[in-house]
Amino acid sequence: MDADTLSRRQVLLGLGATLTGAGLSAYAQPPSPTSQTAASSMPDDATQGSQAATRARRMEWWHQARFGMFIHIGIYSVIERKEWILQEEAMPLSEYESFVPDYQPAPDAARGWARLAKQSGMHYMVLTAKHHEGFCNFESALTPYNAVAEGPHRDLVREYVSAAREEGLRVGIYYSLMDWHHPDGARCAHDEAARKRFVEYTHGLIRELLTNYGKIDILWYDMPIPLDAQGWESQRMNEMVFALQPDIIVNDRNKLPGDFTTPEQTIGDTNIKRAWESCMTINESWGYERADLNWKDSRTIVRNLIDCSAGGGNYLLNIGPRKDGSVPAASVEVLREVGVWIEANGESIFATDRCTVDSPFYASYTQKGNVLYMHIHFWPGTYIAIGGLTTEVRSVKYLKSGTPVRFEQKDLRVRLVDLPLEAPDFPITTFAIECSSPPTQDQNLVSENRVRLHV
Ligand code: GLC
Repeated sequence: MDADTLSRRQVLLGLGATLTGAGLSAYAQPPSPTSQTAASSMPDDATQGSQAATRARRMEWWHQARFGMFIHIGIYSVIERKEWILQEEAMPLSEYESFVPDYQPAPDAARGWARLAKQSGMHYMVLTAKHHEGFCNFESALTPYNAVAEGPHRDLVREYVSAAREEGLRVGIYYSLMDWHHPDGARCAHDEAARKRFVEYTHGLIRELLTNYGKIDILWYDMPIPLDAQGWESQRMNEMVFALQPDIIVNDRNKLPGDFTTPEQTIGDTNIKRAWESCMTINESWGYERADLNWKDSRTIVRNLIDCSAGGGNYLLNIGPRKDGSVPAASVEVLREVGVWIEANGESIFATDRCTVDSPFYASYTQKGNVLYMHIHFWPGTYIAIGGLTTEVRSVKYLKSGTPVRFEQKDLRVRLVDLPLEAPDFPITTFAIECSSPPTQDQNLVSENRVRLHV
């Protein structure tokens, strides 16, 4: 969701803060760096430049990784009606807080998520350390509203980081700047003293996250409401982040461009040159929603992954575990199917180049070097064809089995022939088409030569 389009929610946010009436006293103040002012946080070209200078190195693994697991879990998981419930239903904070004791992710929950991510062919994870609700899934000296002091009485971020590392996965931390629980979370919009306090609190929590858990690979900011980059002192925020974690990558949701953009519930713009990552839900909900059974099937997920890979982007797929950390069986099943497909066909997804070949409609493509990967979503039977390929094809095989496929190339048309009537792989069958140079396609040539008239 684009933060700039949230005016209704912004209005509600102000209202919510008045309704909550929480005291400030529970929140400790981090040591204030006295020399900092909002003005000093304006984007500074030199720093942006030095972050840009290391970007290619820092992001190399991420570009190859392609596929990650997003995890939304918090007090909202107890209520089972998505993660916006506190705000959307104008729930008083005291009522929301009454659900905290029932928030009990099992001690091995994080290991389960990490194993599932690994089995699904994912290479990194991103966990909600703090969502808009304000509850910290980690130990904090700055607020008692955290998972060690309350609820599970364990540091869920620590468990998550070590589980991800055990599986060899990269570790991402999601952090929502917007905060419905902290009394300054809304007040900061129109009260300079509150803004200063809240910015120090925010920077302080981020500092804890990036200091106490070893190496963190991604900082995934979210929802910069109600301030702008100057108000959040986002430049200073990023400087601190990079001082603590020089190899980290950050997204663009603290109102600075960061290292990558974050299209939501849609495939990124494949024409943009900036790095991008599409985040999407596996059903329609980020936080657990008991009645949302609209699971995407494995074909849709693999297809989305292919489309992201073809466009040079990443795919961050969300699961919303229950309050005990368990993952609904339906999503586990779908992810297992995805994992089995990736196990056999991952070569066509990871570390691929941007792809410009894009027809016919029943297929999509990825490419790497001289190899074009043709992914068939709807198996047409006996033969398939690609129009307008302007590179010479040398060989074709099923990627999964390595079995060669007979083909003919003539008049801007490549036909793969003698295929079985039923698709040999599930949910998508992939061919590896080796060309004499990086594959290119020109559909205009097809029209100009009116090939269809003399086939
Ligand atoms: C949307 C949701 C938010 C979620 C985010 C993930 O903005 O409102 O709850 O965390 O998407 O990108």
